[in-house]
Amino acid sequence: MMKDLTGKTQIAGVMGWPVGHSRSPRLHGYWLTRYGLDGAYIPLPVKPDKIGEALRALPVLGLRGANLTIPHKETAIPFLDEIDDLARRVGAVNTAIVREDGSLLGTNTDVFGFSQNLLTAGFSGQDSKKAATVLGAGGAARAVIVALEDMGFESITIVNRSLDKAEKLRDNLQQGKKLSVQPWDKLAGLLEQSSLLVNTTSLGMVGQPELEIDLSPLPLQAWVTDIVYTPLMTSLLSEAKKRGNPVVDGLGMLLHQGRPGFAAWFGKDPEVTEDLRSFVLGESLS
Ligand code: ATR
Repeated sequence: MMKDLTGKTQIAGVMGWPVGHSRSPRLHGYWLTRYGLDGAYIPLPVKPDKIGEALRALPVLGLRGANLTIPHKETAIPFLDEIDDLARRVGAVNTAIVREDGSLLGTNTDVFGFSQNLLTAGFSGQDSKKAATVLGAGGAARAVIVALEDMGFESITIVNRSLDKAEKLRDNLQQGKKLSVQPWDKLAGLLEQSSLLVNTTSLGMVGQPELEIDLSPLPLQAWVTDIVYTPLMTSLLSEAKKRGNPVVDGLGMLLHQGRPGFAAWFGKDPEVTEDLRSFVLGESLS
């Protein structure tokens, strides 16, 4: 049935360029229908140099806020009135909230998304929080590293093709001795010590080269997760699963990261369910 939009309808959206690929309208649209809320969530195509104007327009237009995706996550920061601690630590904002007084608060819910995805899959306990190996040093790695730090990991090692990029990330995140950097050729030794392996590179994504690593040194009780979710079962995850490691796919991170924004805009902390997973996957993923 067609939804009746009125002056009372609460509206939020996602700003990106391009924005057509974003699954957030599907995600938030599902929750709005599921909870019968008078709200709408729309794609907002915002060119890179227009992010400031677009953000400042949110309170002017009476919108509740917006998610920010590529290429706006970092460039949006100067246009927000305040960013919270998580966004400051990650150095990126993915959620903007219009407050009562019309000011804009920026936060980063990717951190929550990553840790909730692991925790709801059953990951817990001190033993599993010893050493994490993070593949990749791009934007996605930043939120993952902040999440791992907050989850209480004793050591976090970034492994990246370009070592200088990983070193910059380490220095920038200022996590002291917990965070270190190693080149790819040290991976086997690192895996031996790891209780969690995370892929944050684009390798293994549809249309990208495969991530080819030898998992044999990894202990069988170590958890393996991938932030890539197209395909859902990346070859990293299927290899790990085949040898008996617990694995967590990347779709849950996307779904859980939507929760804090939805709660702030529409007043309800929404649930991540199997039905939601299938709905967001649609028919285009396998
Ligand atoms: P995002 O912001 O989504 O993390 P990004 O900043 O482009 O994307 O980072 C992509 C990550 O995948 C980087 O760590 C990149 O390694 P480099 O820093 O060396 O570029 C990694 N990556 C992409 N293609 C790769 C490849 N063919 N081999 C190894 N690493 C690759």
